[in-house]
Amino acid sequence: MSSVRAMASTRFVSLFNAKAADSTKTLARAGWSVCFRRNFSTAPSRLQSCMSAWVIDQYGTNGVLKFAEEITVPTVNSPSEVMIKVHAASLNPLDISMRGGYGAKLLKLRRDPMSVMDNNNDSEFPLILGRDVSGVVVDCGSEVTHFVPGDEVWAAVPPWKQGSLAEFVTLTEYEVSHKPKLLSHTEAASIPYVANTALSAFVNAGGLCRDSSSNKRVLITGGSGGVGTFSIQLLKAWGAHVTVTCSQNAEGLIRGLGADEVVDYTAGDAHEQLGMMEKFDVILDGVGGETEQWAIGLLKPWSGAKYITLVTPLLFNTDSMGLLGGMFQTGFTLHSKATQNIISSGVFYRWGFYAPDGPALDEVSKLVDAGKILPVVEAQFPFTQVPQAFQKLEQGHARGKTVVRVAEEDERQAEELVQNRRKETAESEQEVQEMAKQN
Ligand SMILES: NC(=O)c1ccc[n+]([C@@H]2O[C@H](COP(=O)([O-])OP(=O)(O)OC[C@H]3O[C@@H](n4cnc5c(N)ncnc54)[C@H](OP(=O)(O)O)[C@@H]3O)[C@@H](O)[C@H]2O)c1
Repeated sequence: MSSVRAMASTRFVSLFNAKAADSTKTLARAGWSVCFRRNFSTAPSRLQSCMSAWVIDQYGTNGVLKFAEEITVPTVNSPSEVMIKVHAASLNPLDISMRGGYGAKLLKLRRDPMSVMDNNNDSEFPLILGRDVSGVVVDCGSEVTHFVPGDEVWAAVPPWKQGSLAEFVTLTEYEVSHKPKLLSHTEAASIPYVANTALSAFVNAGGLCRDSSSNKRVLITGGSGGVGTFSIQLLKAWGAHVTVTCSQNAEGLIRGLGADEVVDYTAGDAHEQLGMMEKFDVILDGVGGETEQWAIGLLKPWSGAKYITLVTPLLFNTDSMGLLGGMFQTGFTLHSKATQNIISSGVFYRWGFYAPDGPALDEVSKLVDAGKILPVVEAQFPFTQVPQAFQKLEQGHARGKTVVRVAEEDERQAEELVQNRRKETAESEQEVQEMAKQN
């Protein structure tokens, strides 16, 4: 696999182009019933009350995904809300899990607290999946101060809200951020959910930040997926020393993103190799399971080191044991692991969670426009091929993100705009360099 650094001039890491030739025919052959109304308007129509979206009406395998045209548009209902026309969305492992019903009990409670009275209702349907959005603001509530219609924005949609595999999505102002100027919507959609997850894990659970990371040794397990490829770049931008575990065939990508040390876990002795290295200050575990057993021993003892896992049993427990039993069991598990680790080796055991955070995305936007973080898009699909995008993700072995182009025509125009911006930026950088030479 070629290095990302080698491709950095394009700023867009396209590792695997999954564009399909004739999407509607392909869908029909695959047995998906579709009826497309693709004349999306660029400006919001005050009269438009319905939109197109991929929805599920029940939990299950890929067959439950349905294209629907008559979904109610999520209009602005509170003064702090922003309505966004979706240009691109991306998929995360959570979308596969949620399609199957993962987290249904807790997320339903969050959407509708009254649902606790009647656990058997299916008020969440039709449910729209898709956690990332890059698009354009089309309407704002009366108290919105940071955005106006026409702004290009990006955001990670909380799992308890209707998702971005739709023409429009509505979020609160706090969850939204201005998208990086130098990325197209397709590129931008690959970042928000993994960025909000990584930042929440590193900052809130790991105590790291831009100004406190320069001497820190960080290990990331599962580094070749969405969260890993973003985290490597973030930590390098913050000046940390980054070690990553991944499959052998992802090594080029991971080194290209700036990782200092790469360990091939498929060789079988990853923890022995890691054990011979200097110990770590922070571990972000994106694999969980057995990895947790050996990873904690790689931390510096009695020095405030932190193990943060993204693979937590919270939603699994509430699904299988009910809300009260699940939350009690989860609290007990976390408390006993945290206590055991702090007493035995003086390391902090923590769970990392995605947290919606527009201001955090503002910071990421600056890093992207400064060329310090590149989007890593492995595959992209048109809006007609959302089920195929799910299939791709379900195969595992991600190398970055899978993106869905929702508004093709608008995205083509936006892509031209971005290309022009990049050209202008490159030209003005060249002018500055020439002036500096002359002086
Ligand atoms: N708690 C939260 O709020 C939260 C938020 C986001 C994500 N997550 C979880 O965090 C994990 C990572 O998320 P993601 O979006 O980055 O997933 P992803 O895009 O699917 O990436 C997972 C990566 O891990 C690699 N991998 C698999 N087994 C491995 C192992 N034993 N050692 C090292 N690498 C391994 C995979 O490639 P190969 O199989 O080819 O090696 C793949 O590149 C997922 O479990 C996800 O559900 C949790």
